Amino acid sequence: MVERFELAKDYTISRVINGCWQLSEGHSLETNLDKQDILKAFHMLVEKGFTTFDCADIYTGTEELLGEFSKQLQHGSTISPNDIQIHTKYVPDINLLSDVDFTYTEQIIDRSLKRQNRDVLDLVQFHWWDYNVPGYIETAGDLYRLKEKGKIRNIAVTNFDMKHLSEIVDAGIPIVSCQNQYSVFDRRPEKELLDYCKSKGISLLCYGTLSGGLLAEKWIGKPSIQPETRSHVKYLQVIEETLGWDSYQELLLLLQRIAKKHSVSVAHVATKYILSQQGVGATIIGVRNSSHVESNAHIFTFELDRSDIKELNQFLDNYPILDGEPFELERTADSKFRNIMKMNLNEE
Ligand SMILES: NC(=O)c1ccc[n+]([C@@H]2O[C@H](COP(=O)([O-])OP(=O)(O)OC[C@H]3O[C@@H](n4cnc5c(N)ncnc54)[C@H](OP(=O)(O)O)[C@@H]3O)[C@@H](O)[C@H]2O)c1
Repeated sequence: MVERFELAKDYTISRVINGCWQLSEGHSLETNLDKQDILKAFHMLVEKGFTTFDCADIYTGTEELLGEFSKQLQHGSTISPNDIQIHTKYVPDINLLSDVDFTYTEQIIDRSLKRQNRDVLDLVQFHWWDYNVPGYIETAGDLYRLKEKGKIRNIAVTNFDMKHLSEIVDAGIPIVSCQNQYSVFDRRPEKELLDYCKSKGISLLCYGTLSGGLLAEKWIGKPSIQPETRSHVKYLQVIEETLGWDSYQELLLLLQRIAKKHSVSVAHVATKYILSQQGVGATIIGVRNSSHVESNAHIFTFELDRSDIKELNQFLDNYPILDGEPFELERTADSKFRNIMKMNLNEE
């Protein structure tokens, strides 16, 4: 049984969320995606209980794909569109930040409603590229107005750090979750964000848990990796700045040893480790095809014991945590983390 979690009053989600960045234009660097196989994967996922999806206004084509999937659920399926949860994001372009106002925000939310074929958006995760441009508190407030108007069910943030999230919370805007990168490679949320979120009843929804698939047996013993996706590019940078290649290989062997003990895989242990951290509501696992659906159902068939967690913590404590607060490197001018990002996708 896929575990469920009450993210907000009367709103539950699956503890592993189906990530859709992988399905957006340009994410796969070489291969073309097979749309029929993806829709098949969606059906398999919801039938197994993975009912929650993560997409974004800037993941080109994904809101529409989920809208199409929703329509398929209306016809002849035992699962109805109301049985799935679609989490989207509101990511105004960096070039437009100073012009964002209520009218613009409502226009983007209306576009998401239309693309998703929904009357109300289940969860909107708000992202702001540059804290130096004023307006993020006001814009979060505008999302609250749209919630009051009935267009949004729950408001959340993504890629916020504690300081800036607390400004929004202190302004009285009800935030239910914070989506950030959190994995065995990137433990920045442990510096202060996790504790803050716990104290405010805000759940962390974590991406990068599998580091784009780099946490898998198939990379054991490999001397290097040729990136196949934008996720690989992103997480190879993280490995470079934390464990380095040799220790990454050692970590894979440690994860494999624990995985064998529980008759599961490296990916399952890496996911379970993050799910077992207090304050984590769910992890998001990117879907590119139907190949991992059966396997990922095993995430909920075992528990890590205390000795597993201790061994992993002891290993990870030998290595530096990435500099700064969550998403700080990604916001730093000219950093390699920032240079790989596309920040004007909404208007393109
Ligand atoms: N808010 C943000 O800024 C942000 C940023 C990044 C991601 N996200 C969200 O998080 C989601 C996840 O993205 P991510 O980049 O962090 O990727 P990820 O979930 O860490 O990795 C996904 C990849 O892991 C591999 N995988 C999945 N299940 C597996 C299993 N059981 N065994 C082995 N490998 C497995 C697959 O790779 P193969 O297909 O190669 O086998 C899959 O494409 C995105 O879709 C998006 O929704 C949000």
